[in-house]
Amino acid sequence: MNKKIIKNKNIILCVSGSIAAYKSIYLSSLLVKEGANVQVILTESAKNFVGESSFSGITHNPVITGYYDSKTSLSIDHIDIAKKADVILVAPATANIIAKIALGISSDPIVGSILASKAPVIIAPAMDGDMFKSEQVQKNITELIGFNYYISGPEKGRLASGMNEFGRMSEPDILFEEIISIFSKKKDYEKVEAIVTAGGTIEEIDPVRYISNKSSGKMGIEIAKALRDRGASVTLIHGKIDSAEETQGIKKIFTKSAIEMKNTIDNLVDKCQIIIMSAAVSDYKVKNISKEKIKKDSLDYIQLEKNPDILKGIDGSKIAKVGFAAESENLLINAKKKLSSKDCKIIVANDITLEGSGFGSDNNKAVIVDLDGEESFPLMSKSKLAHKILDRAKKFID
Ligand SMILES: Cc1cc2nc3c(=O)[nH]c(=O)nc-3n(C[C@H](O)[C@H](O)[C@H](O)COP(=O)(O)O)c2cc1C
Repeated sequence: MNKKIIKNKNIILCVSGSIAAYKSIYLSSLLVKEGANVQVILTESAKNFVGESSFSGITHNPVITGYYDSKTSLSIDHIDIAKKADVILVAPATANIIAKIALGISSDPIVGSILASKAPVIIAPAMDGDMFKSEQVQKNITELIGFNYYISGPEKGRLASGMNEFGRMSEPDILFEEIISIFSKKKDYEKVEAIVTAGGTIEEIDPVRYISNKSSGKMGIEIAKALRDRGASVTLIHGKIDSAEETQGIKKIFTKSAIEMKNTIDNLVDKCQIIIMSAAVSDYKVKNISKEKIKKDSLDYIQLEKNPDILKGIDGSKIAKVGFAAESENLLINAKKKLSSKDCKIIVANDITLEGSGFGSDNNKAVIVDLDGEESFPLMSKSKLAHKILDRAKKFID
């Protein structure tokens, strides 16, 4: 754990009205000891549990307790500190403040600061176990996850009521580590607009039949998540995928056929700096889609026609194009050919005949090829490979 990373960081510590508020005094001390500039905001209720002087004494900063305090240089305290913040931590977070943050009810400076800031937000709930399990609190927590906020805890343990349930605020040491891990994350794709394609396209034959492929979309989803985590604004354009878990903060657009996928990309591509095309796009479509279900005796053959080549059609001089090559033979030769014929910056080639790699699997073994050469990777998780691809692609958007 690299504690030094915290030095000179502006951390807003928001404390709401829970018995666990006493733990945040110790947390503020841990942060200040490592050189952080900690600005505390207390809700009115929190003042019943902890004193302003404890925090101001430790942080050497005035504590904000309301909108009309005017203690900072700008005299609009919550906006002033929000703009400077590197991270905002709400610990403890009561059911009340969680609901207000989820809805953007800005009746106290905690919510006002969160709304006015672009800094990452960590929420550490603390409450009675049944309160935490309630539909309302769970719904609000889901909203916060949707905003890409980090939810820390709560942990299971003895609560103020004497019950042993999930509701205890994460310990200060854990929250300290979570803050460090946020600062340790690479944010090298910040301000980058990215498109990722994933999954298999669907070409209809008639109302019940279609042509598709075995793509699960997992590789593209992992790339979209890696881009999001590294600060990019990501649109995931996808066909048929197995699932899209943990894709909060990623804009998802479902497109059925190759033509739909192409049209969607064409509409968005001009405002993007990078497109990573991992979707398995059907090379052919059905020439005449039947409006009626074709009788089985009349289905001897289907006339196909070529789909447009989406990857090739994108202007490689305006955007960093990353393509995929799923090969069953001559992996490297075909990848190098594709690099120039499709005007890509990078081709990620994988051998789909390898066991435990490729379609549907959680792992992939790939070679990344660009004009500087190739890099061959051992079998690894798709998530790890996604980061390797981004490490390599970064030079094309600098
Ligand atoms: C002794 C005591 C302990 C409390 N502990 C909690 C708690 O741990 N979690 C919580 O959500 N509410 C707790 N409450 C209720 C909140 O203080 C109350 O909902 C208050 O309005 C929260 O305001 P705030 O979110 O603006 O701080 C407690 C109340 C009392 C009297």
